[in-house]
Amino acid sequence: MTETRADEPLLRVRGLAKHFPVRTGFRSRGLVRAVDGLDFDVRPGESLGLVGESGCGKTTTGRMLVRLLEPTAGTIEFAGRDITHAGRRALRPLRQDLQIIFQDPYASLNPRHTVGRIVAMPLQVNGIDPPGGVKQRVQELLELVGLNPEHYNRYPHEFSGGQRQRVGIARALALRPKLIVADEPVSALDVSIQAQVVNLLRDLQRDLGLAFVFIAHDLAVVRHFCHRVAVMYLGRIVELGDRADIYERPQHPYTRALLSAIPDVTTLGPGGRIRLTGDVPTPLDPPSGCRFRTRCWKARDVCATEEPALVPRDGGRQATACHFPESGPVTAPAPAQRAVAADGDETVDPAATAGPDAQEVAR
Ligand SMILES: Nc1ncnc2c1ncn2[C@@H]1O[C@H](COP(=O)(O)OP(=O)(O)OP(=O)(O)O)[C@@H](O)[C@H]1O
Ligand code: SF4
Ligand SMILES: [Mg+2]
Repeated sequence: MTETRADEPLLRVRGLAKHFPVRTGFRSRGLVRAVDGLDFDVRPGESLGLVGESGCGKTTTGRMLVRLLEPTAGTIEFAGRDITHAGRRALRPLRQDLQIIFQDPYASLNPRHTVGRIVAMPLQVNGIDPPGGVKQRVQELLELVGLNPEHYNRYPHEFSGGQRQRVGIARALALRPKLIVADEPVSALDVSIQAQVVNLLRDLQRDLGLAFVFIAHDLAVVRHFCHRVAVMYLGRIVELGDRADIYERPQHPYTRALLSAIPDVTTLGPGGRIRLTGDVPTPLDPPSGCRFRTRCWKARDVCATEEPALVPRDGGRQATACHFPESGPVTAPAPAQRAVAADGDETVDPAATAGPDAQEVAR
């Protein structure tokens, strides 16, 4: 087990990148810049949410953190130790402290093993013989996650989706980790079950002092669960801050657009929905300068030539990568800058809003 002081980050990530080579036959077609230079910390007992559209690099980030993927560049420090390229032997003691919960509770449990064997596996692989024996410890873990300890000998197919995810959580808890990377832990579950599992994770976090990197599409779930939030776009973090600041005073246009789609979970002003036009550009060939510029209604010339750094603002609580960050509470773009889509949703048209006055758009 590793020791960390409460004021030191448990996880420290700097310049983290993953580029996947793409080939057609023997010919290289370039690099998918799935993750392209992330900086963030996670403190002991803290939950950091990673949000952003599909393909922005959340899973790739999570898999690098638990060393299921080799980073292309950057560093990952866990409890003060550089684990960026740690080999299997060096990782063994850390495996206890650093666990992952997968999205799909169906695919992540071996159907041929009993639940008892699945949850016991991390203990056995790490040669741990807990007081009272493995079976007793596994039954305690099943109880901790709200499952009947007598179901020890059942197989995964005998459980519902929510129960299976609880088995995955019990397995992740077996070694008493300090940090869990949870990659969309509830998105494969029925809506009615999602809240139960999120509440379970929140209770476990509070009671066991666990830190989380919590990856999710669902901004309402992230608001419920996370202390801080990192918003990703095309392999980069565009905004990072405390939950209240991100949800109530987002400064990056992309964060505002994401939040405008879920007015119920923000205290944003009475603006209409900002519906982004255009597809997310490909990470094979990201736009120059600010990667969000092809969809941003505030883009100006400098946005195409200079990539905005993630700059701390408001005394360091919130960091935003934008040349023209918003300030103050949110209002929607002015009517002149909106187009109305066929389905009645209001659509921000970048072409209509770019130019010298664009900075005024969302004020
Ligand atoms: N092994 C790989 N080879 C090539 N490209 C990859 C590989 N794995 C991921 N990618 C690409 O990297 C980008 C980021 O993928 P990732 O799975 O991290 O996104 P994500 O944010 O988790 O998306 P989702 O919300 O859909 O789960 C995507 O463009 C994806 O196609
Ligand atoms: S204003 Fe410029 S820098 Fe800011 S998000 Fe839009 S395009 Fe990017
Ligand atoms: Mg993913």
